[in-house]
Amino acid sequence: MPRLSCWFIRAALIYLTVGITFGALLLFHKGIPFAPFVWRLLPVHVEFLLFGWTVQLAMGVAFWIFPRFWRSRGNETPAWLAFGLINLGVCLAGLGPLLGAPSLVILLGRLAEAGAAAAFALHIWSRVKPPGAQIA
Ligand code: HEM
Repeated sequence: MPRLSCWFIRAALIYLTVGITFGALLLFHKGIPFAPFVWRLLPVHVEFLLFGWTVQLAMGVAFWIFPRFWRSRGNETPAWLAFGLINLGVCLAGLGPLLGAPSLVILLGRLAEAGAAAAFALHIWSRVKPPGAQIA
């Protein structure tokens, strides 16, 4: 597995662990209310599990297994950029509401997530090809 996929997948597993823990707290709180502040964990739960876990896991595995150009994966810089941006975005958009940050912080987080999607698409685009196809 390439180094970048290890980073993507390890980061995704951290978000999974924290996101499910918060989900479990939310679920418990729905059954037996014990602390109203638990509802403030909902945006973090959603952000960590949707983007931090699901999207990031898909990026990590896609970077690893999509077709290569002989032994090369092409220009890896946009994929590394995507890794940085998605984690920045998840932290800003997920932790921002919890810490009472201004909505600009959440907007910046969303922009970082969109940037991550664009950067990853830029990297992976030419690797989306049928078997035996020439390098685009
Ligand atoms: C990949 C896994 C998961 C994803 C993507 C996910 C995503 C979401 C989303 C998008 C919401 C907001 C729904 C809404 O506002 O209508 C939500 C709410 C919630 N999730 Fe998760 N979730 C996941 C796993 C879990 C798990 C494992 C638990 C419990 C152990 C959990 C517990 C909850 C609870 C209690 C709510 C609040 C429901 C309510 O508004 O009454 N989630 N989740």
